[in-house]
Amino acid sequence: MIEIKVLVTSALPYVHDMPHLGNIVGSVLPADVYHRYLKLAGHDTIYICGSDSHGTMFEITAEKLGITPEQLVFKNHELIQEIFRKFNIEFTFYGITHSEENKEITYHIFNKLDENGHLIEEEMELPYCSNCNKFLADRWIEGKCPHCEGLARGDQCDDCGELMTPQEIIKPKCVHCGKGNIEFRKTRHLFLDLPKFEPWLKEWISGKSWSPLVKNFSLGWLKEGLKPRTITRDATWGFPVPKKGYEEKVIYVWFDAPIGYIGITKEWSNKIGKPDEWKKWWLEDCKYVQFMGKDNVPFHSITFPATLKGTEGSWNLVDNLVGSAWLISKDVKFSKSRGRGLTTEDALEIRPVDYWRYVLMSLYPESDDSTFTWEEFRRRVNNELSDIIGNFVHRVLSFTKLNYGKIPGSGELKKEDREILEKLEKIHGEVTENFERARLREALKGVIHLAKESNAYFNNQEPWHLVKKDRGRAATVLNLCCNLVRSTAILLNPFLPESSGKIWKFLKDDSEMEWDSAREIKLSDHEIEKPIVLFKKVTQPELKEIKSKYSKETSEKEGPAESKETPGEPSEEDPFPNLDLRVAEIKEVKDHPNADKLYVFKIDCGEERQIVAGIKEWYNLTFVFNEPFDGLIIRVCVMSIYIFF
Ligand code: 2FM
Ligand code: ZN
Repeated sequence: MIEIKVLVTSALPYVHDMPHLGNIVGSVLPADVYHRYLKLAGHDTIYICGSDSHGTMFEITAEKLGITPEQLVFKNHELIQEIFRKFNIEFTFYGITHSEENKEITYHIFNKLDENGHLIEEEMELPYCSNCNKFLADRWIEGKCPHCEGLARGDQCDDCGELMTPQEIIKPKCVHCGKGNIEFRKTRHLFLDLPKFEPWLKEWISGKSWSPLVKNFSLGWLKEGLKPRTITRDATWGFPVPKKGYEEKVIYVWFDAPIGYIGITKEWSNKIGKPDEWKKWWLEDCKYVQFMGKDNVPFHSITFPATLKGTEGSWNLVDNLVGSAWLISKDVKFSKSRGRGLTTEDALEIRPVDYWRYVLMSLYPESDDSTFTWEEFRRRVNNELSDIIGNFVHRVLSFTKLNYGKIPGSGELKKEDREILEKLEKIHGEVTENFERARLREALKGVIHLAKESNAYFNNQEPWHLVKKDRGRAATVLNLCCNLVRSTAILLNPFLPESSGKIWKFLKDDSEMEWDSAREIKLSDHEIEKPIVLFKKVTQPELKEIKSKYSKETSEKEGPAESKETPGEPSEEDPFPNLDLRVAEIKEVKDHPNADKLYVFKIDCGEERQIVAGIKEWYNLTFVFNEPFDGLIIRVCVMSIYIFF
């Protein structure tokens, strides 16, 4: 693999509020997965993100809370990082746009654009509250939407999403004082002369191999024709405009936010004591990959590149712009704050982080909107995470440990062994290719495919028979299977770092994980640990409970919802959606007091249960359970339990 330098950024979240699951899957999570891959693959890479801290929403929220925007920003800056830590999002650095470094770079870029004649001054008529003696920038003005009569704020309706001018708002009110003393007054503002950049943008975007979603969107906007874009506001929270006559105004948040990527890299450079390090990523040759939701695309494919181009500096522009569509949540509301649907904290109470990282990334809306439902959550956890990955890892390692105590050495390879190794090589190549192109959902499918193929190999070789008749051959099969477990752990690592780390620990592999070593057979005659179950299935009763707690009704009425049990629909992939098959650990076996053919089992299947089984005619289990366990018989017990569920 050729090592390259890659700068990764994800859209800087506004921190006037906390993110919900949809926000996490839209940018920070895929960027984290991608960056983890790059590191494993040995690329020189950094992942930069941070809090987007300017804009009128901060002033409004802070005013309501009786604190300053700065206090609000820095408080939430800490809280949001806590959420990202819980999701194992591993930034090289998470900074903030309200910093001296960002101010310095923003002013530098602003002044260059001004010097180069790319800023236009124009007079506008904007809403003014004669009670507060203030211009009402953006969301400071509210009223009825002229299209749907919903809540119109600034230039957009919160309900129908239609854009409008503040002049069109019906019965407008000032958000500071709640009064309707609104007039329209003239005020001067600065605009970036975007139409000038149209020919260059067209050529530049046309040469990009972005996804159709991103590229077509961007070319579509160009086709409609660009208009000059205001970069100043009549507000107090933000960087003051560094130009004579504009001292009372601030720079518009969408001007300094993307510049924040550079500012935050500089902030990081200063923090690590290498003040020039940021230049290596922004001014020297380097691949630049950005992640964001589709609503942010025009700012990154048009405004920000034009801003940088207009400075005539040698800034790195984005190479791969990864824009996600929406993850639509059908029967639960993804929520930012407690008590109104499903928050990130609620999600982590339901299942640990890797379950969510898996489900979210398997639904990552790479090219089109995708839908989250609780049934889908259960299906992904049970049928993929547990049945494919978890099951493969567990059965291979526990069988090997039981029969050999360690990964045995391998004998001569047969045709079918070479075939599975060829499959490994092929899948590794495909997953790598998908990662290199930041096609993460496809990459994840590849990992599942590898575990499926490996599982099939284990099944076809039937090591449980081999071990009795040809231990040498069984050793070869298990050697390959354990090494396939190792490969799976590596390919899975960017998605599920915690679970991958657990597998690594079962394997007692103390080497540094490396992407390309997943193609090789590394472990032979090597001690391993007894594995523990990696993923717990979601049972029907549990699903029912989750649904009743977090259904849409709960979020809307803010009270306990009536629980509607919707049976899953049979599909090709899941013909028995309501069948609940579980492997349980037998804790105790007793004779049934009143039936000769029955045993009474106390089992642990995620919850303690008591069941009876009519297998007494065939197995003497009370004997087994009073003696040191014999592996073969325990497996027989587990098989029986399977049948009885
Ligand atoms: O949509 C948002 O949450 C914005 N704060 C994204 C900004 S991305 C970049 F420009 F900073
Ligand atoms: Zn007012």
